[in-house]
Amino acid sequence: MKFNITVLDGDGIGPEVTKEAINVMETIGKKYNHTFIFTHELIGGISIDQKGTALPPESIVTCKKSDAVILGAVGGPKWDNPSASVRPEDGLLAIRKELGLFANIRPVSVFPDLTFSSTLKPEILNGVDFIVIRELTGGLYFGKPKRRWTNSRGRQAVDTMRYSEKEIRRILTVGFEMARVRNKRLTSVDKANVLETSRLWREIAIEMTKEYSDITVDHMLVDTASMQLVRNPSQFDVLVTENTFGDILTDEASVLTGSMGMLPSASLAQVPMEGKKTLGLYEPIHGSAPDIAGKGIANPLACILSIALLCRYSLQLNEEASVIENAVQKAIKDGYRCKDIAREGDNVISTKEMGSLISSLLE
Ligand code: IPM
Ligand code: MG
Repeated sequence: MKFNITVLDGDGIGPEVTKEAINVMETIGKKYNHTFIFTHELIGGISIDQKGTALPPESIVTCKKSDAVILGAVGGPKWDNPSASVRPEDGLLAIRKELGLFANIRPVSVFPDLTFSSTLKPEILNGVDFIVIRELTGGLYFGKPKRRWTNSRGRQAVDTMRYSEKEIRRILTVGFEMARVRNKRLTSVDKANVLETSRLWREIAIEMTKEYSDITVDHMLVDTASMQLVRNPSQFDVLVTENTFGDILTDEASVLTGSMGMLPSASLAQVPMEGKKTLGLYEPIHGSAPDIAGKGIANPLACILSIALLCRYSLQLNEEASVIENAVQKAIKDGYRCKDIAREGDNVISTKEMGSLISSLLE
């Protein structure tokens, strides 16, 4: 089969990790007889430098025409000036909105060989394997009014947390559907003791339990959830929450795995369904890591694992997805590490070597 993939390499280590991910996809293509056509477009700081905007219109057009999008990372100190009128992160928010990527899926599974690199005790991490589903195009990030002004009482600012029934229902549907193909346990995270949007969220979640009577649903307040994530993380199977809560909880959850360099993510424009192709954007959770950019030492595994999610959700290539994930597991098990997750005695290899190793394990 033939697939069009847009690559938004972005800044810092972005292009280094996307390069390896593309090589892995080419290997998969050869093995399974697929043709992947990659088109590179601009996003982030490099786009600000070249086009004056963090997401040029041609990037959006190409993404919309493709089967899936790979994104490296955006940002860096060069564009960090707080008074700048445009920031690399604007490109990220814009692509999410433009492509309607309302469902952000962040799997958190702990590699047993890497538990040492987490700050948590290994026994707490035993058996941790859950996914966080974060609403990505609503809430405080996009709600209006959103502005700054000054009046006689000084400087003022407002952001708006707004959610419609439709937005809540579709993200909860993703949660229920994902729980159905996993261990049938869903934790819906809200702040229903304080926020009106959360009370609507919980009301809808309770209504939906009728359609999903096979799923065990818990409603957990976000402050409790943040505590439970480090206290007893193995209780979770699928966690679903709104945009800002999800942003915070997923950074917290990344600590469980020890390394940001291992965490993939998927952002989808539709509820993923078996047998249905879905436009999605796939990116490693780690940022642009300007401190190590250009050195060839960045860990490409999060980006490579994102490719596995791309195969699964956007292209409906389940076997290919599992084969990539197994290759990554084998590399880790055999003691190969990039610098971020290495300990004494490990085989420390470069970005490129890790990419080639995964490709060779696929063949
Ligand atoms: C993330 C990031 C982004 C977000 C930033 C860079 C805008 O933190 O993807 O979690 O807040 O969504
Ligand atoms: Mg974040």
